[in-house]
Amino acid sequence: MKVAFAQSAPMNVESAARSQAIALAFSKNSNDEFIIEGPSQLVSTIAKHFDLALLDELSFFSPSGKAGELFEIPVSATDSETERIFFVGLGDKSLGSIRLAAAAVGRKVRGKNIKVFSACTDGVDELHAYAVSLSLGSYVWNLKSDKDVKFPEFLIATNDQETLDDAVVIAKAICTARDFVHTPSNIKNPSWLAKQAVDLGKEFGFEVKVLAGKELAQFGGLRAVGNSSPKPGPRFVELSYTPRSAKKNAGALEHVVLVGKGITFDTGGVSLKRPYDTMIAMKSDMAGAAAILATVCAISQLQPKIRVTALMMLAENALSGTSQRPSDVITHFGGTTVEVINTDAEGRLVLADGLAYADKNLDPDYVVDIATLTGAATLGLGRQYAAMYTRDNALAKELVAIGEASGDKVWHMPLIDDYQDSLESDIADFNHTADKAKYSAGSVTAALFLEKFVGDRRWVHLDIAGTARSEVDAGENPKGGTGFGVRLLTDWIMSL
Ligand code: BES
Ligand code: MN
Ligand code: ZN
Repeated sequence: MKVAFAQSAPMNVESAARSQAIALAFSKNSNDEFIIEGPSQLVSTIAKHFDLALLDELSFFSPSGKAGELFEIPVSATDSETERIFFVGLGDKSLGSIRLAAAAVGRKVRGKNIKVFSACTDGVDELHAYAVSLSLGSYVWNLKSDKDVKFPEFLIATNDQETLDDAVVIAKAICTARDFVHTPSNIKNPSWLAKQAVDLGKEFGFEVKVLAGKELAQFGGLRAVGNSSPKPGPRFVELSYTPRSAKKNAGALEHVVLVGKGITFDTGGVSLKRPYDTMIAMKSDMAGAAAILATVCAISQLQPKIRVTALMMLAENALSGTSQRPSDVITHFGGTTVEVINTDAEGRLVLADGLAYADKNLDPDYVVDIATLTGAATLGLGRQYAAMYTRDNALAKELVAIGEASGDKVWHMPLIDDYQDSLESDIADFNHTADKAKYSAGSVTAALFLEKFVGDRRWVHLDIAGTARSEVDAGENPKGGTGFGVRLLTDWIMSL
């Protein structure tokens, strides 16, 4: 990862003048006049220092006022290293607009060795959003052999160190998830990812248990998919977070279990993906597992009084002599049998084991799974909203609100019981691809399948097939992994 994280700076013009660039924000008021936002005292001293009529300079560009619009002007003053001022549009000043504005500033200087001083935000939530998105916009990932990597440096004028520290924890966690998604599949096989989890557990102080080989005897879904790539084969990784202050009576705490789809590459298996270029994006098929791993990293630093267990279901869905066949019947954790119809519907098979394990062994108060599960989710909602399924309407409402505030937006989708008969099988408890009836609704029927494995638990399923990956370099996202889910899950857990 090549990305910078925000640091706090004193709210005075001397500290601004030590940066090569100063970012100021503007918006339009109800009379359609432009105004310069941010800490007003600081903004006016900056204007004085550089001898600028800021609004006149801005109006030269005839801004439209939309969020993320960015203009720059050259400046100079004695006793100053500042070479330019960025004006960035704050749109309607909502958190979403602030995120776009910050991402535009981050993007403007990514890969450049420039120090940027921002005087753009007042308010706690605004500062948090701005600081996170500054980093997201500047994020770069590649394996170029050129070692001469340049970074920007971000300074934000604020006295609120605590908010900034929390924002940096979140930004780092999102970038960790992105790094794993970007890593190519010849590197990130299941054992490599398990090793990353072990290393992060040591760094942040959470427990990590890895199961492999014979230890996976009961995990029929994970084995059926993952044995297609026998070296190194599938892994089950259990991450456990307990707050430092409550190690002794952890049993009394509420317990959240997260389950993540971690398919390190999805060829489709014997039901090979076609057309073949749809496969290239499938190195991202472990984005759910990456999101829960990164969430546990963030949670371990933020220390909420709650227990969190995360189950990474790691396997490659390869095409080989040991691939499962369409028509195989497998036995999941807990004994449910499933007829495999299309080996490209592998995600639900590995998740089913994780969900059943959570229900039977972990006594969770909440189970949340997150998975790049169906192309149908993208067809239905596009790439801005993840499909969220749950019978708990109150919980759904909370997650929708946290999604809007954090930037990881979710849409509450229906678990349509009329479609249950599509999961019937003549020879097993269920068939997994819901093709006994022609209902379409592939994301809905996948959710109905998963629900068979959660017992009576409070359960939420997040289908992030559309949101986990961006096909364009725009807004907060680079082309590739977005880190979707880290903000949503972390903010939700912190709210419990
Ligand atoms: N990993 C894919 C889903 C996916 C597709 C994610 C495109 C991101 C972008 C999943 O394993 C899959 O192949 N799903 C099938 C299910 C079908 C065979 C029932 C799908 O959605 O086509
Ligand atoms: Mn698949
Ligand atoms: Zn998949």
